[in-house]
Amino acid sequence: MQIFSEPILTALARLTGQPVAQLKLERPRDPKLGDLAFPCFLIAKERKQAPPAVAAELAAALAGQRDGITASAAGPYLNFRIDRPLLAREICSEVAIAGERFGNSDEGAGKTIVIDFSSPNIAKPMHIGHIRSTIIGAALVRIFRHLGYKVVGINHIGDWGAQFGGLVVALRRWKGEVDLEADPVMGLLDLYQRSKAALKDDAQFQAEAVAAYQELESGREGEVRELWRWVTEVSMRGFNATYARLGVSHELVRGESWYEPLLAPTLERVKAAGVTEISQGALVVQLGELEKSLKETPCLLQQTNGTTLYATRDLAALFSRWEEFGFERCLYVVGGEQKLHFRQLKGVLKRMEQPWEPRVEHIDFGLLLGPGRKKIASRKRGEVLVLDDLLDEVTEAAEKVIEAKNPALANRAQVASQVALGALGFNDLKRERIKDVIFDESEILSFEGDTGPYLQFTHARLASILRKAVANEDAALRSKPDWSALENAGEILVTIGRFGDVVRSAAAKAEPSELSQYLLGLSRDVSTWVSSSDNRVLGTAGPEGAARVALVRCAKSCLGNGLRLIGMPAPEEM
Ligand code: ARG
Repeated sequence: MQIFSEPILTALARLTGQPVAQLKLERPRDPKLGDLAFPCFLIAKERKQAPPAVAAELAAALAGQRDGITASAAGPYLNFRIDRPLLAREICSEVAIAGERFGNSDEGAGKTIVIDFSSPNIAKPMHIGHIRSTIIGAALVRIFRHLGYKVVGINHIGDWGAQFGGLVVALRRWKGEVDLEADPVMGLLDLYQRSKAALKDDAQFQAEAVAAYQELESGREGEVRELWRWVTEVSMRGFNATYARLGVSHELVRGESWYEPLLAPTLERVKAAGVTEISQGALVVQLGELEKSLKETPCLLQQTNGTTLYATRDLAALFSRWEEFGFERCLYVVGGEQKLHFRQLKGVLKRMEQPWEPRVEHIDFGLLLGPGRKKIASRKRGEVLVLDDLLDEVTEAAEKVIEAKNPALANRAQVASQVALGALGFNDLKRERIKDVIFDESEILSFEGDTGPYLQFTHARLASILRKAVANEDAALRSKPDWSALENAGEILVTIGRFGDVVRSAAAKAEPSELSQYLLGLSRDVSTWVSSSDNRVLGTAGPEGAARVALVRCAKSCLGNGLRLIGMPAPEEM
């Protein structure tokens, strides 16, 4: 509602003597009261007056000041109502002119947001834990970019660590027993699982694994390096195929190994800050003085045998990211089970008195579970859930749904994959990210519930109305809209006008669900409006028809933009 809120705020600033930045407009709780509301509590406190008195005084001062905007006091609130024809004309033309830029801003100009997301581990297929990170992270990338930020999406691939010592030994011992040709990643997973078992009860295996990891960390060329390199290559090939299906990409793919040359300098830096201690032979940073609950869990940076850890590499990455980007925020889209890890990292920064520590945020999220909160299983592999299998399954099911609903659809296969992505993705984004998500195939594919396909269907339905209007050479397309014909679409127009505010709030809280919920509300209202016989779009000639076509076009554009921002395809036909 910026086109309206800006002049209102300027007027309020003049009347109250407050800077515009201090004044905030809200949505009235009851839309009947108005389109925008100004709570008078703070001004009242300052003036030592009762809030309703302030509201009444401001309403009187604003009376008749602006054509088309009426101010009225209701208790402690000052409410503003925008004349319907003005609202319709301004919103529809703003959306038409802005197109894909609608709701954007320059709040991010000159600022960089680093988003660490997806970040799967090599030698294992990308699993369900990574799907939420990938989907939430990709949505955040687009949301921030819309607000003018420079966004650097980083894939912090798990390609280093003690487990590779074990994998190397497993490759030496059992390479011949698994199929590394047809499906190398599944073959590696098998070896990885065997090595985990052997590490538990085979002392010889254990010693060899430690030696192999030390060899890897030594940086020397040779058998260990070569094996590791091969594992990285085949794994990355698999990940990239999955990203292509999801339409996701990163600006930087920097595995943990990328930070290898920075590990020693990072350790030196932490030591020089005087915050390290040797505890049972290992190098640690104690965090108990910062937070009692971290007393028993110091941040471990170097093992007795000299090797480094996940936290060491993350710390090196943080310093490197800060120095390279001077980020406004550095977001880690990683599941809630790593909460302690990120508290420890931030704890080390605090102990080192890095003033940018608050810019580092763990963007955590809940689990993805099957119906009845059971572990999700796949038809193909049972226990191990592979993201690609899941995509295959949902795409197959989406094809069936579309075949039943619209058997004549020309590009059925393409639409099915779009619907599958919409279904899977929206399920991850529709509620606050911290909540667990239930994956129920038939539910997420429904065209009627709070689902991705429902939003996509609404978009396609609006597109179809517009197509028909053009095909019929509707007379309305040649008329000038009579904006007063959209009197009963006021709520929809106010909602569309709020799009940019919602994008800003979703970015500030790193919470794409705000946008998802907004799109659901918009879709419901628009569907109801176009379904009503009072609002026939097709066949309504003249200025009235032109206004209705304009509303459909405007709603479709806003919905399409929103879907795009949360990373969801918006089909024209379904
Ligand atoms: N590879 C890790 C995992 O799969 C996630 C890495 C998240 N990013 C980070 N910088 N720690 O659990």
